[in-house]
Amino acid sequence: MDPKLTVAVDAARKAGNLIARAIDRLDKITINEKSPHDFVTSIDIQAEELIIETLRTAYPDDGFLAEESGKQGSEETVWIIDPLDGTMNFVHGVPQIGVSIALQERGKLSLAVVYDPFRNELFTACRGKGAQVNGNRMRVSQCHQLSEAMLGTGFPYHAKEQFPAYIDTFSEFFYNTASMRRPGSASLDLAYVASGRFDGFWEIGLAPWDLAAGVLLIKEAGGLIGDFNGSEDYFQSGNIVTANPKLFREMLKVIKPRLGDPAK
Ligand code: IPD
Ligand code: CA
Ligand code: CA
Repeated sequence: MDPKLTVAVDAARKAGNLIARAIDRLDKITINEKSPHDFVTSIDIQAEELIIETLRTAYPDDGFLAEESGKQGSEETVWIIDPLDGTMNFVHGVPQIGVSIALQERGKLSLAVVYDPFRNELFTACRGKGAQVNGNRMRVSQCHQLSEAMLGTGFPYHAKEQFPAYIDTFSEFFYNTASMRRPGSASLDLAYVASGRFDGFWEIGLAPWDLAAGVLLIKEAGGLIGDFNGSEDYFQSGNIVTANPKLFREMLKVIKPRLGDPAK
């Protein structure tokens, strides 16, 4: 295994073990509301510290972009970290949570780790070398028809002005797909697209730390990713649609007229 991937996996497992132990002792954690519907707990912060300490000990010159502590150090080689993706699930004791770590080198994603501590599932990818789940190769699904697809999504709690257009999109998919899911951890949702469990996924306004690792998993598993106009600017807007190449085009036909920019 790539030495940097080995260290990132170690960091993700340490954070995951902390989260898995803490979910049974929720009475012992502190919870603060950063903004409406956006919580941070003492475990989000401890998990992030553990990850950064592990990575920094091995690679002291690398920089960080982490959800709770922001940007630090080098902008050339940057670890992008969501230490606990699914805080709303966590504070409710729902065991659907990912630890997400990606490495970006000179603007390009090179490594990805998403770890589910409750199923002990480890999703990994190295640029140009494919993607794995627990060491086995993974590929996006073969489903080519919306009518047979199971799609994942996230609800746009932070983009209230987009509710009507989102609901219209949801409604169109609701009538025309096999089923839909909203599990509540974007990094795991993306890992599920990469592993072919979800045929596609879309969400409004995700942050770079929600997206970075999942994006590389999906690309290395043969999937396509775009913003709601179908372009590659999804890190700027955080708006994302992803699926295998055929279904991606089908999903965009629904999403672009409702959520896309009319000028594009
Ligand atoms: C959230 C989760 C959720 C998504 C939200 C994210 P957090 O991340 O990924 O699935 O719908 O937009 O903010 O706050 O639990 O790390
Ligand atoms: Ca997140
Ligand atoms: Ca988080």
